[in-house]
Amino acid sequence: MAEQLSPQDAAKQAAADAAAAMIEDGMLVGLGSGTTLRRFVRSLGARCQAGLKVTGVPTSETTRALAIEVGVPVADLNDVGELDIVFDGADEIDPQGQMIKGGGGNLLWEKIVATAGKRFVAVIDGSKTKDQLGQFPLPVEVIRFGWHATERLIRELLIESGYLEPKIVLRGGLDTPFVTDSGHYILDCALGVITHPEALSVALNRIPGVVENGLFIDIARSAIIGEPDGALKTI
Ligand code: 5RP
Repeated sequence: MAEQLSPQDAAKQAAADAAAAMIEDGMLVGLGSGTTLRRFVRSLGARCQAGLKVTGVPTSETTRALAIEVGVPVADLNDVGELDIVFDGADEIDPQGQMIKGGGGNLLWEKIVATAGKRFVAVIDGSKTKDQLGQFPLPVEVIRFGWHATERLIRELLIESGYLEPKIVLRGGLDTPFVTDSGHYILDCALGVITHPEALSVALNRIPGVVENGLFIDIARSAIIGEPDGALKTI
C-alpha cells in the first residue's frame, strides 16, 4: 500500500526525489541526515538498485545504516577525496543561503562533510525558508566535560551580543541527555532573530568546550524546495 504522506512529508519527498535525480554515475556524494535526507537516501537507493554507480559518504551513523540497508555503497570520509556534491536538509535557510542545521543532532559531521564537497545542495520543504534565521533554536555541540561552564560562557556571549534573555536547553534534559555520534552534548539556544549569523558563529566557536554550532555560513550554493503538491522551487 502506498505511504499516506502528510503535506509536509509530501513536500520533503518531492525535494528528495528531485535531488536524487541529479546524481550521475560515478559521483562521490555526501549524504546528509534528517527526515528529508532519509527520503533522499531511499530514492537514491532505488536508483542504485537500478544500476547507478555512486559512493555515498554519510553524515551520521543513522544515515550510514539506512544507506547500507537500501543499497547505496558507502565510504568513510577519510578514505575518499573531495566529494562531487553534498545533499543535506536544513532547519532554516535565509535568502542568502545561510542555514541553521542540527535539529537532528548531526551538525558536526554534517558541517565536516558539507565543507568537504565541491557543491552543497540544501534539500528542504518550503517551511524551512525564512527571511531571517533564529526562530529555530540554534544547536551548539559541546564537550561533556565541564559543559555547565561552557554553557555559562555561551550565555555571556549571547547577552553581550544583544540576545538579552537567551533560553539555553540541554537537548534531552539532564536525566536523558542526547549524545551525538561524536559523544558530545547539544545546547539548544532560543534566540529569536539572529542579526549577524557569521559573527555569532565565529564567536561561539571560540569558546572552549564548544565543538561546533549549527550556523552553516556560505556553504549552500543552491536549494531544492519541495511543496506539498509536488511542485519544486530551486534557489
Ligand atoms: C540534522 C539536520 C537536518 O538536516 C535538519 O534538522 C532538517 O531535518 P528534517 O529534514 O528532518 O526537517 O540538520 O542534524
